[in-house]
Amino acid sequence: MTPGRFISLEGGEGAGKSTQATRLAAALGERGIETLVTREPGGSEGAEAIRALLMQGEVTRWSPHAEALLFAAARADHVEKRINPAIGAGTWVICDRFIDSSRAYQGLAGGIDDAAILALHGFGSRGLLPDRTFVLEMGVAEGAERAAGRDGAAADRFAARGEGFHQDVAQAFRRFAADEPGRIRLIDATGAPQVVTERLLASLADLLP
Ligand code: TMP
Repeated sequence: MTPGRFISLEGGEGAGKSTQATRLAAALGERGIETLVTREPGGSEGAEAIRALLMQGEVTRWSPHAEALLFAAARADHVEKRINPAIGAGTWVICDRFIDSSRAYQGLAGGIDDAAILALHGFGSRGLLPDRTFVLEMGVAEGAERAAGRDGAAADRFAARGEGFHQDVAQAFRRFAADEPGRIRLIDATGAPQVVTERLLASLADLLP
């Protein structure tokens, strides 16, 4: 059995990650590839329970360090219960956010050392990295507008942070893409959804069977 591939979608708020995860799965399905679409934080029963702790409440509910541990714990459960078994069964996993969100939000924007975030990931999830990571790029203001239109008034603990924080997140993702060009690709997320999906497929061509 050939193992499946692991693809993550990253980016700021409102960039269209979940829409593109579904669209990419459909496009891969047309090529005869079995897929699992999942998300973080969450994706397994235990990780979804941790998600509720992370997303609700005051912005200051968790310290950056506690927050980083909760994300790493959620990810460890998700990787062990869902992602690794699926990859092992030959399924391609498409994950809406993964480790690079922790590196961007808790790390560069949150003030925690990148090496510390990666050490937690090494312990919790054996350092599992995606075969390809797409960063969906959209202006912070445009993304925030789209996210507000989708989520209504109930902005979560992260969306409620200021524009400066989200600019730092965007800059972090660009830096990761520059540092790891083999794995991480910047994708223009503006325009019609089908055009964005075509950009993803073009940037996945080298991995397609
Ligand atoms: P989303 O479901 O709208 O993408 O929201 C998840 C939020 O959690 C988003 O604001 C980014 C944040 N987040 C982190 O801060 N660190 C992480 O490791 C992950 C996966 C998400």
